[in-house]
Amino acid sequence: MREEPNISYAEQIQHAFEFIQQKYDGPLDAGIILGTGLGQLIQNIEIQLEIPYEDIPFFPVSTVESHKGKLIIGILSGKMVVAMQGRFHYYEGYSMKEVTFPVRVMKLLGIQHLFVSNAAGGLNPDYGIGELMIINDHIDLFPENPLRGKNLDQFGVRFPDMSEPYDLSQISKALEIAGQQGLKVHQGVYAAVQGPNLETKAEYKYLRTIGADAIGMSTIPEVIVARHMELPVFAISAITDLCSPGNIKKVRIEEVLAAAAKAEPGMSLIIRELVKLI
Ligand code: HPA
Repeated sequence: MREEPNISYAEQIQHAFEFIQQKYDGPLDAGIILGTGLGQLIQNIEIQLEIPYEDIPFFPVSTVESHKGKLIIGILSGKMVVAMQGRFHYYEGYSMKEVTFPVRVMKLLGIQHLFVSNAAGGLNPDYGIGELMIINDHIDLFPENPLRGKNLDQFGVRFPDMSEPYDLSQISKALEIAGQQGLKVHQGVYAAVQGPNLETKAEYKYLRTIGADAIGMSTIPEVIVARHMELPVFAISAITDLCSPGNIKKVRIEEVLAAAAKAEPGMSLIIRELVKLI
């Protein structure tokens, strides 16, 4: 006998959305996903509602940081936002469908923009530790794509365009904000690999050769899914270690976190000002 089919991915997204909607059904201007060591921005949110991930039906739950994983809804720069405290990485063992599940749910909740940050290694020799790079393009080196499988037609097309994944008007506004505030920012190409190990010297050389300015292990899946739904995206990297020839040394997580902490105020400022302008 054929077993009852499991609840579909689209239905899981719908259930998670309805659960949150019962708690908050007002407007939402933006969704925010913050990277490793870059969560300070959340302290600027006037929190109206916090929902632990484990309470949300079908939401992935972080194994190591389950106490921290929650969705936060509140006011940032006068706008209603939903922020993820704790994101899901492919290297933790989640499938790409799990990694990007929250982006689908946030879209159903009504977000009009997505803001993403991450910690990344700097491949461009001009980059310094603790500096910021606005992502203007990416190279996807993950072994799995979140859109693989039957297309979710209700969300977007089978072959979504990826010729301009990062919103150009947000990029120019961010550059203007940085200029006004005297903040040094770069613009460049972010490449992502599955990790969790860092790269060999030969891999860093390869990544630079194929056109990457920074390297990390996140962001691209969420951006692909956001763009599938035609959601405008702004993404920014904190350069936490140097991966250019002559600068490569053993990466220690404490140093990555210290560099992220150094970059965080400028990053938060840019996102707060961009949110104000949406
Ligand atoms: N490589 C990959 N991911 C990273 C790095 C790196 O050097 N630094 C921070 N995230």
